[in-house]
Amino acid sequence: MYLYPVWVRLWHLFNAILVITLMITGISMQYTGGHENALIVGFGRAVKWHNIAAILLIISYFLFLAGNIFTGNGKYYRIKRENFLSDLGKQFRFYAWGMFRGEKHPFPVTLEEKFNPLQKLTYVLAMYVAVPMMIITGSGLLFPETVITRFLGVSGMIITDILHITVGFLISLFMIVHIYTCTLGAKPTSLFKSMLSGYHESEDD
Ligand code: HEM
Repeated sequence: MYLYPVWVRLWHLFNAILVITLMITGISMQYTGGHENALIVGFGRAVKWHNIAAILLIISYFLFLAGNIFTGNGKYYRIKRENFLSDLGKQFRFYAWGMFRGEKHPFPVTLEEKFNPLQKLTYVLAMYVAVPMMIITGSGLLFPETVITRFLGVSGMIITDILHITVGFLISLFMIVHIYTCTLGAKPTSLFKSMLSGYHESEDD
């Protein structure tokens, strides 16, 4: 079943490379000074590459949005309220219990629904809440004149910075859990192969 069009695969590859670059340079900025070696990115270089990767990520994010608006891929991100919580519970139960007992996936992939309820919720939160927050707060740090000076007595820049690093941490956490859940397809490598070939490998193949 062909589920991942070329544009989704290319966007995803660039997005993953850029997010990893942002994580490495972001952590470097927090913990390094002027010195650097083969393993540590120094502060100056980290700032430069963080800014370059951030601008590329903003462009690729708008291309992702356009892709989801103008192609059929957007329909996979629409959450229907009906049964959503109980379906989420079924998926949780499968990950916590069912899959260790050899049960079948409760929401087999179809052309109408390529994500299970948990994937759908995390992808919507990542792509429509976390990444936009990352972009807004990051732009505030890049252009400090756009940030309000004080809010409830606290510096606007400090609030923006704390929000930025918190969302950065959450996106990093998302990525680790995301890579783990991507090993839970028909075979541990199935979903990674799908992201390369575009074709989904089902449990019955
Ligand atoms: C090395 C890092 C990464 C790997 C190995 C990876 C792996 C994968 C794989 C195998 C899939 C296909 C399975 C599925 O549809 O659920 C996928 C889909 C997806 N990933 Fe990742 N991912 C990585 C990083 C990221 C990051 C950083 C984000 C977002 C911030 C992200 C967001 C998504 C989204 C939204 C989809 C669904 C795309 C679509 O079909 O519309 N991934 N990823």
